[in-house]
Amino acid sequence: MNTGGLLAALVPLVDDLSRDLPEGERYRRLLQAMRAVLPCDAAALLQREGEWLLPLAVDGLSTDTLGRRFRIDDHPRFKALLEADGPLRFPPDCDLPDPYDGLVDGPPDVLEVHDCMGCVLMVGEQPWGLVTLDALDPERFATVDLPSVQAFASLAAATVTVADRIHSLASRVEDERQRAEVYRLAAGQQPPRDLIGNSPANQRLLQDIAVVADSDLTVLITGETGVGKELVAQAIHAASRRGGQPLISINCAALPETLVESELFGHVRGAFSGAVGDRRGKFELADGGTLFLDEVGELSLPIQAKLLRVLQNGQLQRLGSDREHRVNVRVIAATHRDLADDVQEGRFRADVFHRLSVFPVHVAPLRDRQRDVLMLAGFFLEENRVRLGLSGLRLTADAQAALLSYAWPGNVRELEHLLSRSVLKALARQGRRPRILSLSEVDIDLPRTGPVMAQEEETADTAAPAPVRAPAIDPSIGLRAAVDDYERRLILDALARHGHNWASAARGLGLDRANLNRLAKRLGIK
Ligand SMILES: Nc1ncnc2c1ncn2[C@@H]1O[C@H](COP(=O)(O)OP(=O)(O)OP(=O)(O)O)[C@@H](O)[C@H]1O
Ligand SMILES: [Mg+2]
Repeated sequence: MNTGGLLAALVPLVDDLSRDLPEGERYRRLLQAMRAVLPCDAAALLQREGEWLLPLAVDGLSTDTLGRRFRIDDHPRFKALLEADGPLRFPPDCDLPDPYDGLVDGPPDVLEVHDCMGCVLMVGEQPWGLVTLDALDPERFATVDLPSVQAFASLAAATVTVADRIHSLASRVEDERQRAEVYRLAAGQQPPRDLIGNSPANQRLLQDIAVVADSDLTVLITGETGVGKELVAQAIHAASRRGGQPLISINCAALPETLVESELFGHVRGAFSGAVGDRRGKFELADGGTLFLDEVGELSLPIQAKLLRVLQNGQLQRLGSDREHRVNVRVIAATHRDLADDVQEGRFRADVFHRLSVFPVHVAPLRDRQRDVLMLAGFFLEENRVRLGLSGLRLTADAQAALLSYAWPGNVRELEHLLSRSVLKALARQGRRPRILSLSEVDIDLPRTGPVMAQEEETADTAAPAPVRAPAIDPSIGLRAAVDDYERRLILDALARHGHNWASAARGLGLDRANLNRLAKRLGIK
């Protein structure tokens, strides 16, 4: 080999080192250049992984070679190459079996490799892998000078180092970008609003929060839809030692099953089609802080098994990787379901349930919080007053009575939405902007008695139908079935009132559209 030819082949490869090329392309160009300079029928680049050699790129070998794994102990030629200090050519009469016999692209009647050489690739003083060269006639490499092979091997080592470094820099950049995003969100996080209310139920709740916040215990928040479970989670995080760290939330019900796993635990490049880079999951993003698993009861059993490992020892694996990551995360979970019931029915793992409910916190439904309804109404009215620039916004006595006697199936969220809606309607009805706006029972327009609601007896002085109290339900069917029945009838009623428009029925019930869909499916309405 003349030095000029070698240099001409090496220079473009050296240029390649500083270019942003896909990894496969980088290796392919290297092997092609090598074949152009060294007279071989096939070349390969193999990476060592423990006891195995894995082909990363091949040129002149059948494509299926890329899918093969070679155990080093089973292939004495590979073993000898890995142990040699530099390039090694096997004598043509060497009787060691050749791993590539039958794999070299060539005339169909010539299958056996007759001349074979290779060189170890040293990266960081460790044998990283091999380049190999093969020919189908026995004397092909007789004239090849070993220093040229060494030059290619060194360049191959530089190439894999560069590819590795570019890859790890790229994933570090992505990691840092995500981390910066988390801190940006954490810095912008408003302190959660206060949990308004004076009822014994609310006082017990505040006390629970104060007791558990400072510990690192896992908390399971239960309660009907709209009671304030998310707000409670925020309050616990804010009052904890992790308050200055991010609070990361994930709604386990809002994502398709296939995405939940990668959202929670992250994935590595190629873990599934579309996984173009490594990505951390919410657990890793929440490292040092708190992870809020909303609607945890919706997780599938296989994902619960993975969750159990993190809850037990803080260890997780990104999807498609066997590397362990360790995280320090406090978990707060919430559900509107009766998880103990789900455990009985085999829908939820008992071990995960026990890990989650180390400290259970129940948020009472609004109808059990007595006059908190009026305090909350005051809080929401004040928000509306400020937003709309009114001097005063008040409730008439009959409006207060109506709020107090309604059953609030959608709880605090329903109250919040109802008041915002009522204020706008009252303003529109008045035509001009008053200094002080009074909301009457008519303005708040609570759901009327209908097929689902118990009929309120009409008396002489209450001409208008009264707001909802409780539906007439046969209590002998058991609490669970009675509640289901109640919910079913409320939904049907809301649908009827909203012309079977699911989105506005959901708004009317103070529910998220997705929550209403899920509930309707469970109750057999959809
Ligand atoms: N005690 C409270 N004081 C003030 N605002 C409250 C209170 N409880 C709930 N809210 C407000 O009511 C709304 C619903 O609360 P949140 O989203 O926390 O309920 P949730 O239980 O998580 O509901 P879902 O089950 O539908 O997810 C939010 O706007 C929240 O800020
Ligand atoms: Mg919620």
